Amino acid sequence: MRYTSSPLAALLLSSLSLPHAVTAKQVAVPLTSLDSPSNFDAEWGYNYPWGTDHNGAARMAKSQVTISGGTLTITAKRVNGEKPASHGGKQIAIKYLSGAIYAKEHFNVTRGGGFDFLGEFRATTTRGTWPAFWLTGVKGWPPEIDMAEWKGSGKISFNTFNTSSQVRARDVNYPSPGEFHKIRCEVRDQNGRDVAVKFFMDENLIEMQYGHGFVGQPMYL
Ligand SMILES: *[C@@H]1O[C@H](CO)[C@@H](O)[C@H](O)[C@H]1NC(C)=O
Ligand SMILES: *[C@@H]1O[C@H](CO)[C@@H](O)[C@H](O)[C@H]1NC(C)=O
Repeated sequence: MRYTSSPLAALLLSSLSLPHAVTAKQVAVPLTSLDSPSNFDAEWGYNYPWGTDHNGAARMAKSQVTISGGTLTITAKRVNGEKPASHGGKQIAIKYLSGAIYAKEHFNVTRGGGFDFLGEFRATTTRGTWPAFWLTGVKGWPPEIDMAEWKGSGKISFNTFNTSSQVRARDVNYPSPGEFHKIRCEVRDQNGRDVAVKFFMDENLIEMQYGHGFVGQPMYL
């Protein structure tokens, strides 16, 4: 049975830096990275950068990820008999196998710089699922920017964590989950220390948030 499908089509990431009012635009992860296994392997790795487990009841597995014609499909399936995950000193029962990929590149917002993260997603809102398109710190946590999360409530969430207890979270209605929606997240140096984050869905600005001290902190996608 298919519980989760969250394909990305047309995933394109550009890095933007503005030294001395000169605009330099560079594509960090090309649109063609989902076109073939060799293109994929040049840009992406399977599972989380730190392994197969995180803070939920799903264990990541390469078997749950397929790419075809520029679209990535992730499918979760119910499993029994997996050993529990361990997170924050707690054991978490593993009830699903699912999939995740991460960009091999790390994203470090430098002074005057920033990145645009773009993707098209068809994400389920089925209760119990949690597809996500997100950034998290390489050298500690936070930073975390949840560029889009679907928590099985029928809504889409946009969040930025300053500390484990200081989080700005915005949930909005998610129209027609059976169709692809464009997500774009603009992450920019704000003042040499903090970043400003603009969240767009289908080209509409939904929310602006700030990440405290995220400049110079490399992030995983
Ligand atoms: C996070 O930090 C930024 C920059 O200092 C601040 O503007 C924002 O209000 C903070 N957000 C939360 C949720 O604490
Ligand atoms: C982020 O980039 C800046 C500017 O290139 C560099 O000085 C800094 O060391 C980088 N930070 C990390 C943690 O890689």
